Amino acid sequence: MTTANLGYLVQFAFLIGASCFAIGLHLMNSPATARGGNRLSAIGMFIAVTAELIFVSSSNPAIGNWLIIFGGLVVGGAAGLWMARSVAMTAMPQLVSLFNAVGGGAAALLAIDDFIRLSGQHAPDGSLAALDGWLIVFIVVDVIVGSVTFTGSLVASAKLMGKLKGQPIFLPGGRILSAVAMIVAVSCSIVLVMAGAGLFNYETWVLEVLLVTALACALIFGVTMVLPIGGADMPVVISMLNAFTGTAVAMAGFVVGNVILIVAGALVGASGAILTRLMANAMNRSIANILVGGFGANEGSQAAMTGEGGTVREVSVDDAAIQLAYASKVVIVPGYGLAVAQAQHAVRELADLLEARGVDVSYAIHPVAGRMPGHMNVLLAEANVPYPQLKEMDEINPEFGRTDVALVIGANDVTNPAARTDRSSPIFGMPILDVDKARSVIVMKRSMGRGYAGIDNPLYTNPKTGMYFADAKQGLAKLIAAVKAQ
Ligand code: TAP
Repeated sequence: MTTANLGYLVQFAFLIGASCFAIGLHLMNSPATARGGNRLSAIGMFIAVTAELIFVSSSNPAIGNWLIIFGGLVVGGAAGLWMARSVAMTAMPQLVSLFNAVGGGAAALLAIDDFIRLSGQHAPDGSLAALDGWLIVFIVVDVIVGSVTFTGSLVASAKLMGKLKGQPIFLPGGRILSAVAMIVAVSCSIVLVMAGAGLFNYETWVLEVLLVTALACALIFGVTMVLPIGGADMPVVISMLNAFTGTAVAMAGFVVGNVILIVAGALVGASGAILTRLMANAMNRSIANILVGGFGANEGSQAAMTGEGGTVREVSVDDAAIQLAYASKVVIVPGYGLAVAQAQHAVRELADLLEARGVDVSYAIHPVAGRMPGHMNVLLAEANVPYPQLKEMDEINPEFGRTDVALVIGANDVTNPAARTDRSSPIFGMPILDVDKARSVIVMKRSMGRGYAGIDNPLYTNPKTGMYFADAKQGLAKLIAAVKAQ
């Protein structure tokens, strides 16, 4: 086959790959089809990488050391597979963050490599012959965005792994350092772009120093940007860094002239940006507010036994079991506490038991319940909870008025009625699950400790609320036994 024909075939393979990505993303809309979507996207990536390797090997026999290429594929692929299969569901955000770091770093390295190869190729008039106007733009954007993503994602992941403290870390003069690093990186980039446009003629070494300075500043900025952000805000930051990775990869696609890299990068960039926005909206906060540090600062703050402005009514496990067993409609509200306790299988067992008694059971899923996007959906899917029982916030809220018992397990902020009524509350305006509209409410948590926002929850002093103080997993085990005894 001629090189030209092979080229067409490869472009066609890229088209198939890109279609797989787009359809795959669409399938991820619903938990029922998400696995298929993931698989389809992986197949698309396999087709694209194989086509590229075949094309490169036949069109450019001097491509380099195949042992390195295949060695990298095997080692990288095996490491990725092992990490993805062995990671605990609660550790998923830190893994995503590590993958972001790798993606951003790889994209930046690709641009640096191109820069080193091309920056020495001056035209007779001294201008940058090979690094023409647009190419240098893509290179500098790739290097800067990729480097910010690299260090920012490493810091985010270290915070989530507990290797760095989760609370905001303020370095002395950190904000000034951030601003200076960004200004220097952008200034060096502007000079490089002007050199690429032929406005200045520089020696190669000057250009290299400019790029290295921009690179170093971007690496510093990644660290100083993420350090002051509270651990609980990390999922939003990770999603934003994911969008950055996509942008860096798309830029790398322009640098090496590879269409599928551009398409894949643009899809990751756009979906990451949309997700970041959706998450910020669901918390009723702006992205800027998250970046300068917000109520994530309060994470981990456990209030003493609060309950200001009212009496807290405690219920025993038997009281709770009787209410649930003799209800006709129960809505379960899972939250972060259920996730940390890994109580997803126990909650499914309880729901099955109630259904067997003729109780109508559904789960109310708040978009930011937990600590990562889709946290509750993924967790409950792991326990094989039937998808039709999972109800999104807009769907379930009108049903609370007809609900006999709302069983809140390890959820706090996403049920806080102050978001509807108290203008002074930091979560005022955040859409919440209208649990307080149910006929009765049982809240299962260990204490009166606060949630992520660090504020009191008036739901706990509502006369129709009974507090069942227990760890989610142990409490559910006792509740299951008590329901069986009814
Ligand atoms: P939170 O408001 O954080 O409340 C979780 C509650 O779980 C705590 O009050 C805690 O009370 C309880 N808990 C902890 N460990 C437990 C255990 N082992 N057993 C039983 N209960 C336990 O959780 P939420 O209602 O799911 O709200 C999520 C919050 O995170 C929102 O404010 C949201 O904005 C924020 N957030 C979400 C995301 C995403 S993307 N999901 C991202 C960033 C921030 P005790 O200590 O008394 O047990």
